[in-house]
Amino acid sequence: MQTKPGNVPRQKRYLDEMFGVPLQSLWLDIKPVQSQSFEKLRYDTQKPEALLERIINLSSNENDIVLDCFCGSGTTAATAEKLNRRWITCDLGRFAIHTTRKRLLSIENVKPFVVQNLGKYERQAWQTAEFGDAQRAAAVVTQYRQFILELYNGRFVDGYSWLHGVKDGRMVHVGPVDSPISPSDITQIAIEFRKATGTGKDAPKVAAVDVLGWDFAFELNEVAKQQAQQANITMRFIRIPREVLEKAAVEQGDVKFFELAALSVDKTISKRTVTLKLADFVIPPDDVPQDVQKAISHWSQWIDYWAVDWDNKGDTFHNMWQTYRTRQDKSLQLQVAHQYDQPGEYAIMIKVIDILGNDTTKTLSVIVH
Ligand SMILES: C[S@@+](CC[C@H](N)C(=O)[O-])C[C@H]1O[C@@H](n2cnc3c(N)ncnc32)[C@H](O)[C@@H]1O
Repeated sequence: MQTKPGNVPRQKRYLDEMFGVPLQSLWLDIKPVQSQSFEKLRYDTQKPEALLERIINLSSNENDIVLDCFCGSGTTAATAEKLNRRWITCDLGRFAIHTTRKRLLSIENVKPFVVQNLGKYERQAWQTAEFGDAQRAAAVVTQYRQFILELYNGRFVDGYSWLHGVKDGRMVHVGPVDSPISPSDITQIAIEFRKATGTGKDAPKVAAVDVLGWDFAFELNEVAKQQAQQANITMRFIRIPREVLEKAAVEQGDVKFFELAALSVDKTISKRTVTLKLADFVIPPDDVPQDVQKAISHWSQWIDYWAVDWDNKGDTFHNMWQTYRTRQDKSLQLQVAHQYDQPGEYAIMIKVIDILGNDTTKTLSVIVH
């Protein structure tokens, strides 16, 4: 190297030629999510996506499965989705599931995913404490059903597997404490109901069943009602209220049962274009704080977002269109149109998520020419 007299030689080193410093156990270069950040979801313990991006990139390859058992606001699943990983995520909080689902749905071209409700296990402990231990399992379950039926003002009936009581001529099914009512339960109830009609002293006299449950599979409500209707049975889905677990509420007769939310949708068809318009949404007053109820003046305010699968094949819900309220824009579109490329018969599935994070799903059948 030649230098002019008096000049001091300098060495230039480029960053990509350096070995760098191995990552330390303390990561200080990633900042927490700032209050004004676009990422911020008002979830207290939300982690920055940059942090999960580093962890996921370091520890997995594309198409691998990333598991986060405590999703919170869903940072892991959202980042995994963006990095082309598959993911499984859980949380015991409904708000966490709601926040995560909404976050995932706002990712452009998010792949279809399912949200499942797997039950609440605290109720098993209550059942054992109240009615006895597992060795007496059958007797415990019978006593539990009798107890719920009494609170529901129904009468216990014996001799069936899926029908447990009668109220005002309607048969009653009492769902288990440890798992939600699922679509296959509905099939079993309908099969047993049809077999039982017209035989024995407690045979159903009215083609109607009240299904009481602590939880309902997310996809159930309207779809199962429609399934039951096809079998000529009117089914009502009624939530077993939390107050059942409270001795004081039970003793004071303060236990009220409410039906699940109901959704009405109007459809119009013009050649290959189908227009859907949400017409009504009724939510049970159960679980809803008084101040929230008072603040609602129109039924649509209960809805946080809704989505449509225009061609449901009876499998996973495919989010083909969606609209939702945001912090910036609180309004909600109530109508949407879709044009099919091909004539034919299609099953449309509509999914409404209310402001409490509950799903209500309905299917409609359309024929376009
Ligand atoms: C620290 S937060 C996770 C925050 C998340 N990493 C994010 O970025 O938003 C922990 C979460 O674990 C959930 N949780 C706690 N115990 C749980 C359990 N036994 N099963 C499932 N989820 C649980 C809580 O509801 C909470 O949402």
